[in-house]
Amino acid sequence: MGKTGLMARKSVADIVGSVEGEQRQLSKTLGAFSITAMGIGAIIGAGIFVLTGTAAAQYAGPSIVLSFILGGVACAFVGLCYSELAAMLPVCGSTYTYTYATLGELFAWVIGWDLILEYAMGAATVAVGWSGYVVSLLKNADVDLPAELTAAPGVTVKLADGTIVAGVINVPAVVIIAILTTLLVLGTRESARLNNIMVAIKLSVVLAFIAIGAFFIHSANWHPFIPKNTGEFGSFGTSGILRGSAVVFFAFIGFDAVSTAAQEARNPKRDMPIGILGSLVVCTLLYIAVAGVLTGLVPYAELNVPDPIAKGVDAIGVNWFSILIKVGALAGLTTVILVLLYGQSRIFFTMSKDGLLPRLFARVHPHLHTPHLSQIMIGTIVAVVAALTPINVLGEMVSIGTLFAFVLVCGAVIYLRRSDPHAPRPFRAPGVPLVPVLGIFFCLLLMTGLPLVTWVRLVVWLAIGLVIYFIYGRNNSVLQHPERRGH
Ligand code: ALA
Repeated sequence: MGKTGLMARKSVADIVGSVEGEQRQLSKTLGAFSITAMGIGAIIGAGIFVLTGTAAAQYAGPSIVLSFILGGVACAFVGLCYSELAAMLPVCGSTYTYTYATLGELFAWVIGWDLILEYAMGAATVAVGWSGYVVSLLKNADVDLPAELTAAPGVTVKLADGTIVAGVINVPAVVIIAILTTLLVLGTRESARLNNIMVAIKLSVVLAFIAIGAFFIHSANWHPFIPKNTGEFGSFGTSGILRGSAVVFFAFIGFDAVSTAAQEARNPKRDMPIGILGSLVVCTLLYIAVAGVLTGLVPYAELNVPDPIAKGVDAIGVNWFSILIKVGALAGLTTVILVLLYGQSRIFFTMSKDGLLPRLFARVHPHLHTPHLSQIMIGTIVAVVAALTPINVLGEMVSIGTLFAFVLVCGAVIYLRRSDPHAPRPFRAPGVPLVPVLGIFFCLLLMTGLPLVTWVRLVVWLAIGLVIYFIYGRNNSVLQHPERRGH
């Protein structure tokens, strides 16, 4: 064990050693296929189905394709680092755990707190995207939900007759979170099976969009490929590509959620790197293709809608295909929410075991084997946030929070190679320290693309986290008060 105090850090051997006992509590049901499916399930979601349109219309135009390439490059470096850590420290908790072993408890807490942005807020963001597609699908069936009940305050909805309605609460977003929270409380195995089916549907729909859409592209829509900057940072031109990249970075989030399942994997050392890198590569290629086809189908300025992919399909003019795409998008968005809600409860589980959160979060149901109380609390809070917050505010918060976490992951790889050079590394990231350094560089670059207000929100969020740590975590930490272990 490391020093005590704020810099107390867990040793790698301690972490790996503690896994066995904890693993007995959660059932080990996930194989390599389920984990890769889980990765793809977590990755393809509101980023491609919703934010691509927003980002193309407001920031990058057709060069949103370049934004995706930039985002994919950043994630490739981070993914290699993640794989090393996930295989080396096969515990749930993801970045939180890696940071505990490297930079110490205070940083670990900061990261655990920051990850709430990625997981819980991410789930809220995608639930809002889900709501957009469900409203659109119901319209196909001539069912019009009252617009004020489908959007957050501050969001305006334009009706078919041109009337503008102000949002009050996003009810469909609340409904989907309630359903998925119930599923997760009932059990991982069932959820994983459902996840595999939904991922298959989502992949088929995305591939069909690319394959069919490609025949209907008007190449004139791609000109100019990089629209001229309007004079404002981030509004088209090169800085627009950067801001677009920071916004659609949201689309890549999720490959790391795989690492939170390490404790439930049958063979984490082999399955983690396969799951993380495999799902990342598949999704990046698909995104580039979808972004190219979408901006070729519809003039980019028209894509700032809650269901841009459906708008792309409408341009093809085949009604049944439009309905199919919406159903597929809904399935896709559902799996993302599922994995993010799941990941959040597992991170809280580990933080609670460490004493940094109340023990309630580590309580496992005797028959269901799920952290039921934690899952229900998370579901409730996520539902409230999704009900009341616009998607662009949520999406940018998730992106900045995750990029920040990724910087620390890359840093952790460099640090651990020095502090624990002989610890077994079933998967070694190539080219260390260059690869992690490039990962840090690209993440910081993308962060600079986000608006100042998003940075301020991040700082305020982290400050609140610090206050909680000094009031609660520091006094209850098992690492600093070993006598409390097991209490
Ligand atoms: N990458 C996930 C999405 O796009 C979070 O929905």
